Amino acid sequence: MNQPKRYLVTSALPYANGLKHIGHLAGAYIPADIYVRYLRAQKKDVVFVCGSDEHGTAIPIQAMKEGTTAQAIIDKYHPIIEQNFKDLGISFNIYHRTSAPIHHTTAQEFFTTLNDNGNLEIKESEQYYDEETKTFLADRFIKGTCPNCGNDGAYGDQCEKCGKSLSPDELINPVSTLSGKTPIKKITKHWYLPLDKHEDFLREWVLKEHKDNWRSNVVGQCKSWIDGGLQPRAVTRDLDWGIKVPVKNAEGKVLYVWFDAPIGYISATKQWALDNDKDWKPYWFNNDTQLVHFIGKDNIVFHSIIFPIMLKLHGNILPAFVTSNEFMNLEGDKMSTSRGWSIEMDEYINDWIKQENGGESMADVLRYYLTAIAPETKDSEFTWKGFQDANNNELVSIFGNYVNRTFVLMHKLCNGKVPVFHNNLIDETDKELIESIQNSKIKIQNYLEEFKFRDAQFEVIDLARKANQYMQKKEPWILAKSLNENPENQKLIDNCLHLCLQLTANLAIFINPFLPFTAKKMLHMLKVVDKMLDWQNAGSLKLLSVGYSLREPQLLFRKIENEEIAAQLEKLKLKSQQSKENKVEEIKQSETIPLKPEIVFDDFAKIDLRVGTITAAEKVEKADKLLKLSVDLGFETRTIVSGIALYFKPEDIVGKQVTVVCNLAPRKMRGIESNGMILMAEDKNGKLHFVNPDNKIDEGSGVS
Ligand code: MF3
Ligand code: ZN
Repeated sequence: MNQPKRYLVTSALPYANGLKHIGHLAGAYIPADIYVRYLRAQKKDVVFVCGSDEHGTAIPIQAMKEGTTAQAIIDKYHPIIEQNFKDLGISFNIYHRTSAPIHHTTAQEFFTTLNDNGNLEIKESEQYYDEETKTFLADRFIKGTCPNCGNDGAYGDQCEKCGKSLSPDELINPVSTLSGKTPIKKITKHWYLPLDKHEDFLREWVLKEHKDNWRSNVVGQCKSWIDGGLQPRAVTRDLDWGIKVPVKNAEGKVLYVWFDAPIGYISATKQWALDNDKDWKPYWFNNDTQLVHFIGKDNIVFHSIIFPIMLKLHGNILPAFVTSNEFMNLEGDKMSTSRGWSIEMDEYINDWIKQENGGESMADVLRYYLTAIAPETKDSEFTWKGFQDANNNELVSIFGNYVNRTFVLMHKLCNGKVPVFHNNLIDETDKELIESIQNSKIKIQNYLEEFKFRDAQFEVIDLARKANQYMQKKEPWILAKSLNENPENQKLIDNCLHLCLQLTANLAIFINPFLPFTAKKMLHMLKVVDKMLDWQNAGSLKLLSVGYSLREPQLLFRKIENEEIAAQLEKLKLKSQQSKENKVEEIKQSETIPLKPEIVFDDFAKIDLRVGTITAAEKVEKADKLLKLSVDLGFETRTIVSGIALYFKPEDIVGKQVTVVCNLAPRKMRGIESNGMILMAEDKNGKLHFVNPDNKIDEGSGVS
């Protein structure tokens, strides 16, 4: 593509079902923010959109956990997550939400267009259904054993342990997340996006066109999906939480969350345009727009296979880049909020940023470390020790130290003003430094345009390292000692500090996309306006005018002490311990059946309970669960139909004693009149057990 006219950059919409951790931050938000800040410094027309993903089963499930409603969940987490991103300097142009009416209509319009154009298929199929809660069990409403790794808590859409995407039918021993019961199958109708019809397009577009300019993890995942055989994918669900399917006779059906959520990028753009008096359409329809998605690894197929097909069918532009990282682990284990092995953004902000004056620089420290260890090509690991080292050895000792020394020396040796540069005294060391600035600019720029944020940031620090070496070599403080004997030394001092100051201004431009709070502080010290940060100024040695007086230095970063790190490690351990204990408690709670409302003795006395003996048993035809029993009650023998066939063979139970409700009104089951009911106990796995006297007693004995 020629130079794009405008850029639309997206970060994956996080589910508003809980706090988000720094692994999320490192994957889809910080890299996107760096890229966007760079584009803005390049004076590009760029819109950066994100927002809350508020549909799907993740939200009502969290609501169940917290004992509240889905609406209350999104209203609780949306503003927290939005504020967390702000505190960490993520500079979205809009942080929208998919519960907004404009999103509902946008997603419905999108669906209608595809449906009217015949791009969707309608099919009936059998799907898991929870008889107790009367719900179809899509996505996370169903759990079971993962066929891939054996994890017994895999969801109907994905196994969170091995990352494999699943369908409910693939789960071994599926149970309903809602009731814990084994589901039945029931026929239902859904709309499907026939991915298989777009195989040729995908092969051409991803596997050929983008083979070399997309990261290999993205291309690789696409390839294995395509080679594995693309299947039509349902884009509707039988749920009540979500966007209504905009078609007649589709009551109780909503759009699949992964159909509506990426359309959230479009509706967010629309809302941004409304708020800013702009036209949103060119961002989604014009070929001279560059669309870039930043996502987490488990979102790859949605952004490089499914959503592109939707976009193509709908007449939109396709993403120019889909950028995803690998995983970031934490202290030797996979990061996971539910296991308490994580650092939530909110937690970091409370512990590090809100604790101190000027705490924003701690936001930059996190941004710095997460970029320095970004898992761009392979998994990486966050350790608190690594965090401390990156801060103390790089930000404090190299970058911060350089800027601080430059300011201190300039105040001491040059009256707090930008000194003059004597061109005739320029030497090789000066020239080398000047060249380094130019080289760094080109390198940083190229790296950023190739989405190599880690290398780009390293280059900025490396320039500061070279600047330190330059100063070390020039030793202006030594020159100052012999000023009386050699007054010409002042000129050398001036040259050194002139260059050091111009380089400091350049460092502010270079560091700005990565560490925006630090760049701001530097602008303040340099007493220059934001405009200085324009990328076109990078490389210039005329950013600060001679004679201009500058402020006193402020420390850009502070040292992090061992105790602070030890405290964080301790906290992490406690948190994971706590979450284990909570899990045990949760399981205990879920195993306890809630008590029914109180009754009086007379209520109970109405029930006539007797001991009987099973004298015959046979299967009821065409009913898997039912047995027809003859039960001898002493005074008569009754026919009782009982739902125990899954657990007992007829021949095994003849002769068994049981407790029978004798005065229950007769009921017809499968054409057989059942005269009474047998008491059974149900264990936590749903298996049934007889409730009978411990020794054989006379038939007809009363039970009370
Ligand atoms: N909410 C999804 C997740 O957290 C990401 C949605 S990205 C979007 O995995 F494209 F659908 F918006
Ligand atoms: Zn698995």
